[in-house]
This record gives sequence, C-alpha cells and structure tokens, in this order.
Amino acid sequence: MGEQDVVKVAESYYDSREADQFYLNIWGGEDIHVGLYPEAGGSIIEASRATVERMASKLDGLNPDKRVLDIGAGYGGSARYLAKTFGCHVTCVNISETQNQRNRQLTDEQGLADKVSVLHGNFEALPFEANSFDVVWCQDSLLHSGNRRRVLEEVARVVKPGGEWIFTDPMQADDCPRGVLKPVLDRIHLDTMGSFEFYKKVHPELGFDEVEVEDLSWQLPRHYGRVRNDLQTRYDEIIKVSSKAYVDRMIEGLGHWVDAGKKKYLSWGILHFRLKA
Ligand SMILES: C[S@@+](CC[C@H](N)C(=O)[O-])C[C@H]1O[C@@H](n2cnc3c(N)ncnc32)[C@H](O)[C@@H]1O
Repeated sequence: MGEQDVVKVAESYYDSREADQFYLNIWGGEDIHVGLYPEAGGSIIEASRATVERMASKLDGLNPDKRVLDIGAGYGGSARYLAKTFGCHVTCVNISETQNQRNRQLTDEQGLADKVSVLHGNFEALPFEANSFDVVWCQDSLLHSGNRRRVLEEVARVVKPGGEWIFTDPMQADDCPRGVLKPVLDRIHLDTMGSFEFYKKVHPELGFDEVEVEDLSWQLPRHYGRVRNDLQTRYDEIIKVSSKAYVDRMIEGLGHWVDAGKKKYLSWGILHFRLKA
C-alpha cells in the first residue's frame, strides 16, 4: 500500500458506523487503547484510564501553562482527562471526522471546550508551526502509519526544545519471526508495525533523548482477550448497532491478537523521550 492509501484506510475504517459503535460500546468508552489490568481483573474502562494516569504521572508537572498535543486522539478521553486534572490546554488531531464530532460533543458536554480543541488532520503532516507544544502525546495510533519515521519527524518539529514526547504503540516483538503476524495485521488493514528496537534507534537520530521505555507487553493479550470476551458476551446487543459481519470478523481478528500476544510476537509499552534543549 502507498503511504496516502494507508492514511485513507485508517480514515475510512474509523469513520465507519460499525467501527464507531464497536469502539464506543465495547473497547473502553472514551478510550481506545490497551489498558493496565491488575492481576485480579478490573474493567476495561478502569484499565484504560489507568494507562492514561500512568503516562501522565511520568511527565514533568503538567499545569495550566502547558500546551499538549494528542495525535490520533480518538474520542478525546485522554485529552479531557489531562485538561480536567491538570488544567493544561490540549489540542487533538485525528484523521477520523466521525470520532472528532463525538470528541467535540463530549468535550462540550463536560464543559471543557475552552481547554480542548479538536482538529481534523494527518499526523504525518501536522498543521502547526515549529516549537508549538510542551508535550506531544499519542496512544495506540502510530501503528496506523505507513511512515512512522515521518510522524516522529513531525513530532520533533512541533515540540519545543526540551519538550516531552510520550506514547504507547502495539508493536511487533524485536525477535518476531517473519510472516507470523499476517492475520494480526489484516484485522485493521495494516502493512507493518513498529518495534521497541525501531523506536530506540530512530529517536536519537531525530534529536530525542530517551527518558524511559517501559515494556508492558503482557498487558496486550490481556486487554485484547477482555475486549473479545465482552464482545462475545454482548454479541446480540452489539450486532444491532454495528453489524453481524463486522462483529464476527472482529471476534476472529481479536483472537489472532490474543494468540500472537501470548506467543510473545507482539509488544506494547509506554515510551517517553525528550527533545534536546
Ligand atoms: C486505536 S485508536 C486510538 C485513539 C486514542 N489515541 C485513544 O487512545 O483513545 C487510533 C486512532 O488513530 C487515528 N489515526 C489513524 N491514522 C491517523 C493519521 N494518519 N493521522 C491522525 N490520526 C490517525 C484514528 O483515527 C484513531 O483515532
């Protein structure tokens, strides 16, 4: 697939009614990312929020003077959490206008319209001047890029010198055998995935210092397994708002992710960098 095709695929995938209803009702409400689950279980919504809290705790004191950019922001759950908790201003960029509309509506309803702005845009060509943000944030969105290095170059351009860049990403394991991820990639129409090795190599080339890379890969099969179980439990309800074909495909596709995660072919974690001052 060409790079522009990859962007179009992500846009039409997340814009579709079937995906919108699935992510909204099953994945984690306002959050569409891997959660952090305690050993004993916990709900998808609580686990998803725990990821946001843990990422925020790693940053250098967010406050009302800080400007944060969330790229691939989904329904904006993290942006509203950061704005509500720390008073900072958060700009959301997302290629899906379906999600952006819901993001604006939720932001208005929660009285945060002066703190959270929502823009339609592609993270491979960010619509901002250089040195615009204190923090750039991203959760489980870089997997959708056909040119991850380009996204990281854009982050390095728009973050201020000394500013922070923190993200999570479902990745392939550094030692993943060739070819085994095909069914995993097919679920959401991906060509390739990043890896810890790739990110650790590219960031210094772009002027970033590593602050911390936290490998939390075991959470990935746990999360995908929980989503799959909930989808099976609420099958009759969800096929009415999404579609039977979509839900059946998703149950099968999520199974491939759980399987690959358990075999340690997939990785996931929180990666935190700082642009040299
Ligand atoms: C798994 S969702 C994560 C959403 C959000 N970060 C969260 O954690 O709730 C992936 C997101 O990446 C967005 N996305 C994919 N490709 C993009 C691109 N080229 N530019 C901007 N956003 C993109 C999708 O529209 C979707 O909102």
